[in-house]
Amino acid sequence: MSLKGKHVVVVGGTSGIGLATAKAFLDEEAEVVIASRSTAKLTSAKQVLGHNIQAFELDFRSEESAAEFFKQTGQIDHLVITAGEGVMGHFRDLDVTDAKTAFDSKFWGQYITARAVVPYLTNTGSITLTSGVYGVRPPKGASTLASINSAVDGLVRGLAVDLAPVRVNVVSPGIVDTPIYAGMPSDQRQQMFSGIAGQLPVGKVAKPEDIARAYIYLAKSEFTTGTVVLIDGGAHLV
Ligand SMILES: NC(=O)c1ccc[n+]([C@@H]2O[C@H](COP(=O)([O-])OP(=O)(O)OC[C@H]3O[C@@H](n4cnc5c(N)ncnc54)[C@H](OP(=O)(O)O)[C@@H]3O)[C@@H](O)[C@H]2O)c1
Repeated sequence: MSLKGKHVVVVGGTSGIGLATAKAFLDEEAEVVIASRSTAKLTSAKQVLGHNIQAFELDFRSEESAAEFFKQTGQIDHLVITAGEGVMGHFRDLDVTDAKTAFDSKFWGQYITARAVVPYLTNTGSITLTSGVYGVRPPKGASTLASINSAVDGLVRGLAVDLAPVRVNVVSPGIVDTPIYAGMPSDQRQQMFSGIAGQLPVGKVAKPEDIARAYIYLAKSEFTTGTVVLIDGGAHLV
């Protein structure tokens, strides 16, 4: 299926995996809308992507914001959601409130946005969510993310049945070098990436562009629904 002229929305398209995915859809000659909360990130993403895109503010955790957002976009062929904020912390130490806040973002944000888009999606369209390898192979301190990612993987199986013939899938990335790690001092971040790369069968951490290809595949692949595309450099094996 060609993506030329198709209407694509990338929620979280102002940074990291979402920004690379918006670029990949533009390369396929799709009409792209990006959304996130920060005006500064929307402006800077527009500069990176060029003026062929539209950019709207959206907090995807709010049903009201999501409803207003899709009124602005109108009919859509493909929705991609990469927005989401998780949390790390040992099960014994992490406050329940912090675990719930992460669920509100990465699980409920995707749930609410997928629900809000339904009236606007074409029958030949698709929804692609984002989870992560910690859903199947959590390191210590990732029990909340393991739960959220597994819940998102489960959600797409249910939605693929409920929303058929719309196709619903999920990309589950391993470690990707994105601004999500911007809070770490750069030498510490590089050390962490080198350590992880050394353990992975592919010998490196991913770039956002590596993961963006999976969203393009899922938008194009008319026979794929209810599927988790695990793209993790082999992290689930080690
Ligand atoms: N990077 C990794 O190693 C990795 C590994 C596995 C899974 N993942 C998952 O992949 C997804 C993307 O990660 P990334 O590394 O690309 O992160 P990122 O660079 O931090 O980008 C996250 C994007 O989501 C937006 N966002 C966050 N909260 C939002 C909200 N409430 N409403 C609307 N937009 C919101 C952010 O923009 P605003 O701040 O402007 O809202 C930003 O555009 C996340 O779900 C993450 O858990 C990442």
